Amino acid sequence: MTVTTPSRSRAIDSVLVVGAGAMGAQIAMVCALAGLDVSLYDLEDDRLKQADEMLRQRVGRMVEKAKINATTHDAAFERLTFTADLRDAAAKADLVIEAIVEKLDAKRSLFGELDRLCPPHTILTSNSSSFVPSSMASATERPDRFCNMHFFNPALVMSCVEVVRGQATSDDTMTTVVDLTSRLGKEPVVLSKEINGFVANRILNAIRDESIYLLENGYASIESIDIACRSALGHPMGPFELQDLTGLDVGYYIKQGRYDESNDEKDKPSASLTARVHAGHLGRKTGRGWYRYDRDGHKLAPT
Ligand code: CAA
Repeated sequence: MTVTTPSRSRAIDSVLVVGAGAMGAQIAMVCALAGLDVSLYDLEDDRLKQADEMLRQRVGRMVEKAKINATTHDAAFERLTFTADLRDAAAKADLVIEAIVEKLDAKRSLFGELDRLCPPHTILTSNSSSFVPSSMASATERPDRFCNMHFFNPALVMSCVEVVRGQATSDDTMTTVVDLTSRLGKEPVVLSKEINGFVANRILNAIRDESIYLLENGYASIESIDIACRSALGHPMGPFELQDLTGLDVGYYIKQGRYDESNDEKDKPSASLTARVHAGHLGRKTGRGWYRYDRDGHKLAPT
């Protein structure tokens, strides 16, 4: 008779988030608000400073709106350390969430380094929205302690987290990360088999492709397409408004990654997206993407 051991959830007390961009910073705060000790690491001091300012503004507004009280606010900031010292932060992490640029080489090289710096029990996860766990886990000696933990933008607001199983991910790792996701107050969506783009982004990608087709072939304007998605389909934002929020560069790298894998012309980043990314028009973060934005972030006319 074969006896199967039930999977075990490991205790996670300390989390390291790598990359202090908009996603990494908000993910770190989600963890701190849930009572975890968090290190937010970035190579660039400026980015850490900007992340601190953005979080103080956002979480301050949560106090003003009575979503949390001042004690919770202060305790979360006490539990959150902004650091440029990866070695020290990695040494005490039970779990790492990587949120750096959407480039496979950069992620593989980071995970190779984290594998050497973290204790053996540490689970490594990636917030990548497109690269499958196995493509990154193979840069480490611990593919069983690796999966994707994909948050949505803005991470402080969106409740879904996709937990993606790689080819070698162990049951214990999946159970631990699913339990942690619930502890963060998020709703885990488990992918039991890896696929590029996972669930939500594959569906979103189909909407984006159709929007680009309608735009580039002169059927409808950026604004009309956004209005249709909001007022006919009930989406909170149109596809172009949403890309301005998440970053045109992120969408571009996702498409490029998929094209590199498939060599299928339909996966290639569109001409209008490529032109904007090459011009540095990356959305709200640069004041211009599909739309222009004023200094206070108010949306102006399309570009
Ligand atoms: N960061 C944190 N919080 C934010 C925020 C931001 N950038 N923008 C808005 N919020 C908060 C506001 O503070 C507000 O909080 P309260 O409800 O506590 O007051 C709440 O969100 C609603 O904001 P607003 O009233 O200003 O505006 P809104 O009603 O239009 O909501 C939105 C803003 C939550 C972003 C909403 O438009 C929305 O849900 N948009 C769709 C977002 C989405 O689809 N995200 C997934 C993107 S795909 C992705 O992330 C995958 C990937 O891999 C790229």
